[in-house]
Amino acid sequence: MNFDELLRRRLVFTVGKGGVGRTTVSLAIGLEAARRGKRVLMVELEGARGLERAIDEQRKSRPTAPELRRIGHIEVEGKRALEEYLGLVIPVRRLLKTVFSSNVYQYFVAAAPGLKELMTVGKIWYEVERTDATAPDLVVVDGPATGHSLQYLRMPKAAAEAFPVGLVHREAERIFSLLQDESATAVAIVTTPEEMPVNETLEISRGLSDLGLPRTLLVVNRVHRAPLTPAEIESLGGASPRDGDPASPDEALFAEAVRVADGETGWAELNRENVLRLAREVPIPTVRLPYLFTEEFGGLHVDRLSRDLAGQLDGKPSTEAA
Ligand SMILES: Nc1ncnc2c1ncn2[C@@H]1O[C@H](COP(=O)(O)OP(=O)(O)O)[C@@H](O)[C@H]1O
Ligand SMILES: [Mg+2]
Repeated sequence: MNFDELLRRRLVFTVGKGGVGRTTVSLAIGLEAARRGKRVLMVELEGARGLERAIDEQRKSRPTAPELRRIGHIEVEGKRALEEYLGLVIPVRRLLKTVFSSNVYQYFVAAAPGLKELMTVGKIWYEVERTDATAPDLVVVDGPATGHSLQYLRMPKAAAEAFPVGLVHREAERIFSLLQDESATAVAIVTTPEEMPVNETLEISRGLSDLGLPRTLLVVNRVHRAPLTPAEIESLGGASPRDGDPASPDEALFAEAVRVADGETGWAELNRENVLRLAREVPIPTVRLPYLFTEEFGGLHVDRLSRDLAGQLDGKPSTEAA
């Protein structure tokens, strides 16, 4: 699968353990899609702010990049989505106001399990299916920041089962069949090559296949690369400092560089085992993004990862990841 094939979908949904780089990867995909001419709507789920911040950083660090004009952003919040929806069904404003302010309604929204998630996914699909002049070509959802990654994707099926007939059933069925359609929806699993995120990735992968949802792409983020081989480090005098004080600042700097290189080589080895485990157990198209060393991770880094991700899907080897 190359990047243009990925872009034939209308929805890309990222999932993965918190902190592995879901927001970064979502934006990386959105940026490349926009570079290829797509109008992209980046969707953030309620309460998260990282995506909006990351898009702002793009605009600050690369203000003239033309693709940024094709990137939009919304936050989807379950309760507001429900009110919008009810507004379509109940066009009498006065009646609507009465409904929204009633205790029964407030109680219902707070108590109905999964309602928020269901309305959120419904709103996302509303955006996906828009056909008006400003409709996006591609919707990229930065997966949920808290709770289980699949809570949103699971909800339409659960709702269709909970309501065996009627409007909710029909809507939920319709949304679920669109999610299952791998020509319309891509699910990108994001992980780092570390034990806990990999364990969670295997769980997510199983969860997706149990639900009959697509597993389109695996993105292994923050892969360390060994700068030197163990033999090279050995030949440079090893990682442990020599006895006594270094003779000069240059020597101290050199010893420090070798020590850092040794640490990185160790990380790269640990990463490699996890990368191999993922390749064995989640055999789907996979992209490996390098760990970028920087004091401040920002817009230019996301742009670099974006080009690397697309390049790898298009068959160019990564210039950076091992
Ligand atoms: N490839 C990378 N190299 C170095 N640092 C990274 C990389 N990807 C992400 N990060 C760092 O990890 C942090 C969390 O990434 P983010 O995309 O916000 O994760 P999530 O959305 O999964 O919580 C970023 O702010 C950045 O500092
Ligand atoms: Mg995030």
